[in-house]
Amino acid sequence: MQHYLLEPRAGEPFALFLQESAEPAPGPGEVAVRIRATSLNYRDLLVRAGKSASGGSEPVVPLSDGAGEIVALGEGVTDWRSGDRVALTFFRDWLSGPFQMSYHAAARGGSYDGVLSEVVIAPAHSLVAVPATMSFTEAATLPCAALTAWHALMERGRPLAAGETVLCLGTGGVSTFALQIAKAAGAQVILTSSSHEKLARARELGADETIHYLETPEWDREVMRITEKRGVDRVVEVGGPGTIERSLNSVAAGGVVSLIGVLTGFDPPKANLFTLVKKNAELQGIYVGHREMFVRMNAFLEQHAIRPVIDRSFPFAEAASAYAHLEGASHFGKVVLEV
Ligand SMILES: NC(=O)c1ccc[n+]([C@@H]2O[C@H](COP(=O)([O-])OP(=O)(O)OC[C@H]3O[C@@H](n4cnc5c(N)ncnc54)[C@H](OP(=O)(O)O)[C@@H]3O)[C@@H](O)[C@H]2O)c1
Repeated sequence: MQHYLLEPRAGEPFALFLQESAEPAPGPGEVAVRIRATSLNYRDLLVRAGKSASGGSEPVVPLSDGAGEIVALGEGVTDWRSGDRVALTFFRDWLSGPFQMSYHAAARGGSYDGVLSEVVIAPAHSLVAVPATMSFTEAATLPCAALTAWHALMERGRPLAAGETVLCLGTGGVSTFALQIAKAAGAQVILTSSSHEKLARARELGADETIHYLETPEWDREVMRITEKRGVDRVVEVGGPGTIERSLNSVAAGGVVSLIGVLTGFDPPKANLFTLVKKNAELQGIYVGHREMFVRMNAFLEQHAIRPVIDRSFPFAEAASAYAHLEGASHFGKVVLEV
């Protein structure tokens, strides 16, 4: 079979190359999954650049997100059958309950082998059934971006309620899932983008209000104008140091800012955190989610007939082009590799 490897190189981006190897067999408690599609996340660019919090220093099979079918069962596996359609979890061992720092040791495509491979061996506990309504290509977009948005909006603290307002930044994977989930939950969505064309697509997907964040650099003021000085109940904060201050300005009294991303880098934010005190608001760190959340999310996606937004799909042989496409940031939604 064929799989990719990402190999650290001193002082430069990791090298991505294709390798041949013997098809592996599952051990006790494991299954073999024939991967049919994978998707890329911004985090995969960070791993390749040696900057991901869950990245390692050893060569690794890249990408956390994949879906496929079970082709072999190891001894003792009773909860899956050959032919079952599954997706793999981002954190191999975070099944439920509070996060433990030890889970970072098995973050797929970072500290632990990922899914850019024709066959992946996985512990039977680290899989979820994919929604029957979704293709493998669609299901491959769920493990990181969708689950992160779901965790932020529907799992931590109190779930988003109908009639509340959500602010989504940009039109990448996490933000488009947040938009879709929030609309299905009956919320109002304000979304920002650097492109008028993408803002129009976001409105087609249900965004109620849109802001061009380059033309309106003080977009927090615009959020306050739109919400008649109230602010938003939730912010899906994927920007990091360059956006956090305005996100804090945008949140309503009693609202929640979910700190998720680092699209503007890793510098320590210079935001005034006392804004949170004044508003009795919360700031919560979100790192993907656990398997039980993934199962609940899939039921919700199926119930609301939510289809992931796929910007472009590349063949397995063109993994480098898929990375370049994601890096170019012209995408809306998800970038996928068919295996
Ligand atoms: N904590 C977690 O568990 C977790 C999970 C997934 C992702 N993340 C992080 O969340 C971020 C988003 O990930 P992703 O995979 O969704 O990324 P992505 O698909 O690559 O999103 C890229 C898009 O982000 C938007 N963007 C870039 N700079 C922005 C800014 N200053 N303000 C507003 N939008 C901006 C742009 O949208 P427009 O083109 O529309 O302007 C860009 O196209 C990344 O930092 C990633 O590392 C964290």
